[in-house]
Amino acid sequence: MPVKSLCVMVSGGGSNLQSVMDAIARGEIKARIALVLSSREDAYALTRAKNAGIPTRVVAPSSYGSREAFDQAVLEALEASGADYIILAGYLCLLGGNIIGKFKNRIINIHPALIPAFCGKGYYGEKVHKAVLEYGAKVSGATVHFVDEGTDTGPIILQTCVPVLDEDDEHTLAARVLEKEHELLPKAVKLLTEGKLRIEGRRVRITG
Ligand code: GRF
Repeated sequence: MPVKSLCVMVSGGGSNLQSVMDAIARGEIKARIALVLSSREDAYALTRAKNAGIPTRVVAPSSYGSREAFDQAVLEALEASGADYIILAGYLCLLGGNIIGKFKNRIINIHPALIPAFCGKGYYGEKVHKAVLEYGAKVSGATVHFVDEGTDTGPIILQTCVPVLDEDDEHTLAARVLEKEHELLPKAVKLLTEGKLRIEGRRVRITG
C-alpha cells in the first residue's frame, strides 16, 4: 500500500509544517509531503521545506487578475502534486469552493482556539488571542478540523486546552497555544492518513 501524499499549505513561519515534517522523519506518520504550497513568496515555511528537499510552489493571490483565476491556479497546483490529503498549516487564504468540492473531507486545518469560540472571518494569528484575552476567557487551546465551505466551521477532529493566565498578553498566550498545536496537528495527520477518522454529521469518530 503506497504511503499517502500530503500537500501542506502555508503562508507564514511554518512551525506547524515543521511539526508534521518532524513526525514523519521520526516514523510516527507514514506519509510523504509531496508539496508545500505557499500563498506568499516570503513565507519562512518555504525555507523549511527547501532545507528538507520538499518541493515548493508559490501561488500568490496578487499574481492573478481574479479570485476565480487564483482558485483555479491553486486547484491545478494541488492536482499536479498528487496529494491525497491537504493540510492547512497557517494558510491565510480562503479555499475556493472548487477545491473544497474536489477534495471533500480530505482537507484539514489547525486553528489556534477552541472552535466554535474565537474563530471565523477575521480571527487569525494574534487577533485570535487578543479576542480571548479581551473576552476574559479562562481557557483557550487549539482545534484541528475538517475544512468545509465555511470559515473554521467543519467537523472537529481533535482539540486541546491551555490555561489563560492573568499575566498573559497575546504573545504569551499565542506561544502556549502554538506549543500545543505542534502536538495536535501531527496526531490529526496520523489519524487522517491511517484512515481512522469517520465523519458522522458534525461529529468525527476516531476508529481503530
Ligand atoms: C498557527 O497559530 C496556526 O494555528 C494558525 O497560524 C499559525 C501558523 O503558524 N493557523 P506557523 O506558520 O505554523 O508557525
